[in-house]
Amino acid sequence: MSKIPFGKPIITSEEKKIISKVLNSGTLVHGPKAKEFEEAFKKFTGAKDAITVSSCTAGMHLFYFSLNIGKGDEVIIPAQTHVATAHAVELTGAKPIFVDSEYPTGNINISLIEKKITKKTKAITVVHYLGNPVDVKKLKLLARKYKLYLLEDCALALGASVEKKHVGLIGDAGFFSFYPVKHITTGEGGMIILNSKKYSKLLRKKKAFGYNKSLDQRVYPGLYDVDQLGFNYRMSELHASLGVIQIKKFNSFLRKRSFNFKYLESKIKKLKEIFIVPNLKGHISGSFYCFSILLSKKIASKRFKIINFLKKNNIGSSIYYPHPVPRLKFYRDKYKISKRNYEIASQFSDRIICLPIGPHVSKKDLDIISLNIKKIIN
Ligand SMILES: Cc1ncc(COP(=O)(O)O)c(C=O)c1O
Repeated sequence: MSKIPFGKPIITSEEKKIISKVLNSGTLVHGPKAKEFEEAFKKFTGAKDAITVSSCTAGMHLFYFSLNIGKGDEVIIPAQTHVATAHAVELTGAKPIFVDSEYPTGNINISLIEKKITKKTKAITVVHYLGNPVDVKKLKLLARKYKLYLLEDCALALGASVEKKHVGLIGDAGFFSFYPVKHITTGEGGMIILNSKKYSKLLRKKKAFGYNKSLDQRVYPGLYDVDQLGFNYRMSELHASLGVIQIKKFNSFLRKRSFNFKYLESKIKKLKEIFIVPNLKGHISGSFYCFSILLSKKIASKRFKIINFLKKNNIGSSIYYPHPVPRLKFYRDKYKISKRNYEIASQFSDRIICLPIGPHVSKKDLDIISLNIKKIIN
């Protein structure tokens, strides 16, 4: 284990206490904690509704499935993303259509989207890559013109905004992840946010087997009917109770991430042969998910040497993401996509090193990171 891990959840006595309280309550699902977490998330983001789910992937799959996106349909997504963004489409039977990235953010290149729209397109799903928001407002007009759903994968973007609106609220829905290295954690878990209640009832029903009555609507316990197909994508009370505690701490987490980003940037910005992926500010504002450097073409082949050197010096790192999705075996084999496509997305996959700036990282840690980065790059 690295002494400065890439990500580390901040778990204090508060989280431990709430878990044991929930365990002692005997109510492990269908209880007040999921509702409390949803209310807190709604308040924090300004959403009209927030729906807990078992993961971000589950949330995206649930949305596509609920809106009847499936076989014969296409969903436009970025090539540079976690495989979850593509799998959520693929699982419905629909086809993901990949779009290359842009510099300097690595986000989907908006200017390439319109020519990928066909009669089969049902949705555009953007990913706020590394927490830097895509300019979703620009895409809204396009989505309207072609009557498409516009969705936002916000797995790395809690706290990011576009013109002061929290990400996830400009499109039809936003999806968050609470996996342990994310901004806040519930162990595993996710949240869907909506800017209207139009799909709330449907999504809540489909995330719980398609029951016609929720637990509190049942006249006799255990008596219900099922009038639709659905999943079990619920979040347990144990997971939700962690979310209730963690969301309260988010602002202090974000302040620390922002400080860490700027401090590390000041230390290594003069280094030649690396390019720092910016954290956007201004009307589009990022979430300081991590500190990413892109190696120049000249030193790109030394990436694993650099990563190993950092590891030997107890510095954790990560790669977001190791391949553009169309380069992953499953997608390559299925869609016969040429490895040469998605040039910018490939450059991010092949040259990036992501460094830790989470709230677990101290100023002293950042000094160690910058010292070692300088040593190995120079
Ligand atoms: C952009 C993106 N979307 C979705 C996911 C999947 O999130 P979850 O593990 O909560 O399903 C991840 C995971 O890291 C991700 O990076």
